[in-house]
Amino acid sequence: MTKDRLYVDAHEIIPDFVFDERVACVFPDMINRSVPGYGTIINMIGTLAAQYIKPNSNCYDLGCSLGAATMAIRFAVEDLDFHLVAVDNSPAMLSTAKHCLAEQDRGPTVELICADIRDIQICLASMVVLNFTLQFVPAADRLTLLTNIYEGMLPGGLLLLSEKIALPNDVAQRLFIEMHHGFKKAQGYSELEISQKRTALEDVLIPETLACHKERLQKVGFSTVEVWFQCFNFISLLAIK
Ligand SMILES: C[S@@+](CC[C@H](N)C(=O)[O-])C[C@H]1O[C@@H](n2cnc3c(N)ncnc32)[C@H](O)[C@@H]1O
Repeated sequence: MTKDRLYVDAHEIIPDFVFDERVACVFPDMINRSVPGYGTIINMIGTLAAQYIKPNSNCYDLGCSLGAATMAIRFAVEDLDFHLVAVDNSPAMLSTAKHCLAEQDRGPTVELICADIRDIQICLASMVVLNFTLQFVPAADRLTLLTNIYEGMLPGGLLLLSEKIALPNDVAQRLFIEMHHGFKKAQGYSELEISQKRTALEDVLIPETLACHKERLQKVGFSTVEVWFQCFNFISLLAIK
């Protein structure tokens, strides 16, 4: 795993964060050292896939990056006849995902699609994964995207939504941000790396509150919406149609 050193050196101007070749090269290290509980969430996606994916249905990993969730699903649901679709709009991430998936010689074949998830037609879905992707979609488009996902899902189907959230209470917000920075420091990131990465993400990753996520999922029509994982300001929700 190549170590993430993208923000080690001081930059005078810090451009907005993009999922380009440089990020694709270090992504597994970056996400594991930046998102507390990422490994647990990926493992649980496999466990949930084994419970929720139905024969002759579709499963979508939207914003698949290098395919970690896709691979967990493949590993967990080897013998079922279903269609696994992984989508990302970054050619660099998708091309690395293609290599990673080729190395995993088990489970169903994966249809890799380089596209914007706002343009994807979801149909006959027994499971949809949005693992830390919705936060990068413009806020104004999130309701339409979730409505499109809901309409393409089978009754009883599962949407797994993981996000970085904002806290409505200022004290809690500051506390959770400090705890997250403590986590990153313990993972070996310097103060400079943490602050430069935060600047790069500022206008790109737009977090919303848990209440906002829950209300929107319920408005879209999901009957059961529950948080199953939280560590500081990182959460994962289950939404069942
Ligand atoms: C934090 S990463 C997701 C991590 C990944 N789901 C995992 O579990 O490892 C966000 C990904 O979403 C992709 N993305 C962001 N906006 C997108 C959009 N509108 N359409 C498709 N992919 C998008 C990015 O290219 C990036 O690979």
